[in-house]
Order: sequence, then C-alpha cells, then structure tokens
Amino acid sequence: MLMNNTSKLIVGNWKMNTTLPEGSLLLSRIIKELTNFTYPELVICPPSTHLYAFSKELEKSKGPLNIELGAQNISEHEEGPYTGEISATMLHNIAKYVIVGHSERRKFFNESDAVDGKKLQTAIRHRLTPILCVGEDQQERSDGHAKQKVLDQLNTDLAHVTSQEIKDVIVAYEPVWSIGTGNFAKPAQVEEMVWLIHNNLIEQFGKMAGSKVRVLYGGSVDGENARNYLNIKGVDGLLVGGASLNYKQFAKIVRASA
Ligand code: PGA
Repeated sequence: MLMNNTSKLIVGNWKMNTTLPEGSLLLSRIIKELTNFTYPELVICPPSTHLYAFSKELEKSKGPLNIELGAQNISEHEEGPYTGEISATMLHNIAKYVIVGHSERRKFFNESDAVDGKKLQTAIRHRLTPILCVGEDQQERSDGHAKQKVLDQLNTDLAHVTSQEIKDVIVAYEPVWSIGTGNFAKPAQVEEMVWLIHNNLIEQFGKMAGSKVRVLYGGSVDGENARNYLNIKGVDGLLVGGASLNYKQFAKIVRASA
C-alpha cells in the first residue's frame, strides 16, 4: 500500500467511446462539475485521437483540480513499420500515464504477458507511468485459479522491471468477470486479491520498493459503490470504465475519493 499518502488515484478509461467533439464536451463537463474541488491527481484516458487537443485544453485550465492524461495502449516497439500503432515517443508531452495489458487488449488483440511486459518496459523507458492491469476471468475464478492467474501475470509482466523502476508502476486489479458487467466484486474478494498483489510486489522487489507501488481496483465501479471499494485496506485508487463516460457519475466517484 502506498505509505504516508492517503490520496487516492482515480483513473477514467473511456475506451473506444466519443468523437473528439463529444469527448471535449465530456471533459469540460467533468471540469465544470468539479469546479473548486481540490484534487491532487485525476487521470483521464481518452481515445488517442483526443490526447493532443485535450493536453492543450488542460494546459489552459490548470487549477486545484489536476487532471493528467493517459493513453489506453502503446506499442512495445520504438518506431517503424507497425501500421496503426502508437509509440511512446508520440505521447511525449501529451500523456503522463499509459494503460498496459487491459483485459480487452489481452482478449481481443491477443496480447500476451510477454508482449505486455515489453510494453511496460517501453513505457518506463519513456517516463510514462504504466498502469498494469491484471485479473482472472470467470472460469479461472470458478476453478479456484484466480490467485495463480494474477501471480503468473505479475511475475511475467514485471520480470524485467528493476526495484528502481517498480516505484513508478501502478497495478490495477481488474477481475475480468466484473468489467462492464455490473457483476460487482465483493469487498472481501477485492481485499484478498489486492493484498496478494501487494505481497507479491514486496516479494519481487523488496519492502522498500514493493510497498511504494499503488494498487487500484477496477470493475463495474460507479458513483454508488466507489466509496466502499476505496475504503478497502490496500486499495489505493480506482480504474473506472463505463462510469467515467458519465460526468455526474465520474464526479461522484472523484468526490468519494477525497
Ligand atoms: P468498467 O470497466 O468500469 O466499465 O467495468 C473497467 C475497466 O475496463 O477498466
């Protein structure tokens, strides 16, 4: 758990939703809804087509509400013939964070742990803060393999990260069966997995470095349940999908975390 720091990190993942005009409107509504609200760090991960315009927009509106931008994915490669991919260099001065290994990337784009491990390293090399997503699917949970699945993902994806670098990595526990389903994870289930992750990080990187890593929870988080998840010991913030597209819901989640 993040020591000596009680502020929670809220990340909104818009996925493949909104055109640029719709996204700009949503961003301005979020900012307006949270006017006069002091918040250390709120992260929005819009589609990549929005990042540049949003970065300019946010430069103008810097205030007590600090919104940073994140990308939803990056290429593991530096540059070259990789049609459709976005490199870490392209995100310089535009995004500060990047989601790595989201279950939708793993499922629909066949991203393996080996590839996600490389993406993570690319992000670190370029000083982007990676948000590494891990979590089991329904079958793995029913079969009693949930813990092993998450440990395998952590061990493989973080295999080449040093204890110097791990401090700048964020891990999100996202049970796949709860993402976008309204199938709420019980607080006890979240607590058990979040501590499994914290302990694994300490085991892999030592107490000094491992205990500094923030662990978020994600999966059907909304304005109603956000506080319950944030109150779980070991949960350092939330990764929000669907509810981040609704400015009132999202603002409610942010307020719950203050
Ligand atoms: P959800 O998505 O909040 O819609 O369940 C979470 C995520 O995919 O990160």
